[in-house]
Amino acid sequence: MVKLTGYKKVKTAVFISGTGSNLKSLIKFSKTRKAPISIDLIISSNLKAKGLKFGRINKIKKKVFSFKEKHKIENQILSVLKENGIKMICLAGFMKILSRNFIAKFRGKILNIHPSLLPKYKGLNTHQRALNNNDKYSGCTVHFVNSRLDSGKIILQKKVKISKNETKDSLTKKVLVQEHKLYPKAILKAFNL
Ligand code: GRF
Repeated sequence: MVKLTGYKKVKTAVFISGTGSNLKSLIKFSKTRKAPISIDLIISSNLKAKGLKFGRINKIKKKVFSFKEKHKIENQILSVLKENGIKMICLAGFMKILSRNFIAKFRGKILNIHPSLLPKYKGLNTHQRALNNNDKYSGCTVHFVNSRLDSGKIILQKKVKISKNETKDSLTKKVLVQEHKLYPKAILKAFNL
């Protein structure tokens, strides 16, 4: 459980690499009264990430890091997080793997959303793998991040039925709709709200 201190919202950074539709839904959620977090910083591993536009639109500070020298970059990110008083991190389509050392600095304070029913299909290409295996269901999971890929404690999951003529694209879209609902719910649960 993440603890709320006082009545102030917990300053949160969202890490992205691409479209940022989960970022968009998290920003919307953070502006509601019941949300325990505010989104004060967006970190992107990709200068061309479409999601960066949500920073512009919502006047949220953005920083882009190339991740070429991971150790160095992570230390720079840790400094930026500190400068901005960030106490929590939400990974949302962030395509880089954070080091054990980085995660240890935010132990229990990093959440991730993953497009499968973990522990099934850790890693990439989850929807195609579910289709290849003729699974009846796919879905999404919000979990705490630990040093093993997609393996931290599960907070919430949502199942999605795979229909007969499902394609990778249709399944991606269907699961994304659920992701946008699940992440806010999981944050409330992580705060015991
Ligand atoms: C989502 O499916 C998320 O679960 C996965 O990457 C995708 C990111 O989508 N980790 P978006 O950038 O939030 O639109």
